[in-house]
Amino acid sequence: MTAVAPLTESHGEALVRFFAELPEGDRTFIREDVTDPDVVRGWSAGAGVDRWVAVDDGGRVLGYVAVLRLPGWSDHVGEVRLVVAPAARGSGQGRALARHAVVAALEAGLSKLVVEVVADQTAALALFTGLGFTGEALLVDHIRDREGQLRDLMVLAHHVGETWAGMRAVGLTETLDDPT
Ligand SMILES: CC(C)(COP(=O)(O)OP(=O)(O)OC[C@H]1O[C@@H](n2cnc3c(N)ncnc32)[C@H](O)[C@@H]1OP(=O)(O)O)[C@@H](O)C(=O)NCCC(=O)NCCS
Repeated sequence: MTAVAPLTESHGEALVRFFAELPEGDRTFIREDVTDPDVVRGWSAGAGVDRWVAVDDGGRVLGYVAVLRLPGWSDHVGEVRLVVAPAARGSGQGRALARHAVVAALEAGLSKLVVEVVADQTAALALFTGLGFTGEALLVDHIRDREGQLRDLMVLAHHVGETWAGMRAVGLTETLDDPT
């Protein structure tokens, strides 16, 4: 059994291990320096950022999701960052974490969510599209992979406030009080 829980100090060591065991390419989705244990341990105290972990019965972290509120004139927008341990993929962890993040972002009053996905990451594209995200920008040759190859980055967006009907369609309102 796996549960999604808000990140607390008690997850610190397990989260450091989770990131240390991730393939290097997957760590880049998080952007922050997750190889530095002090950065990861400091997260549970962070402001303006909501983070959750998927934890198994043995206390191992299998997945991580964060919603970062953008600053200034975009402070109604949250950026989602999601990663699941390779061995735990394909069993619904990613979807459970992403759903959790979308619901929490709604509750926090954010009206738009964005996520950056490498254009050929079919799993990530399918996951977020299934939760009501749509393509909003394609940034050509925007990132370099480990081999130095240029790759396209897609920005997917979810306009939360306008899409209660769409959210109901994908089952996201089950745990919420629908305002309509
Ligand atoms: C994207 C990621 C989080 C998905 O995690 P996951 O736990 O495997 O996802 P789930 O098992 O919940 O799958 C959700 C959906 O994704 C799609 N999917 C999952 N694995 C897939 C694969 N190998 N190929 C194609 N689609 C796939 C399916 O549509 C699936 O829905 P289904 O189970 O109804 O078929 C994971 O692959 C990952 O960590 N990738 C690297 C980081 C990343 O790309 N993050 C996203 C940008 S921040």
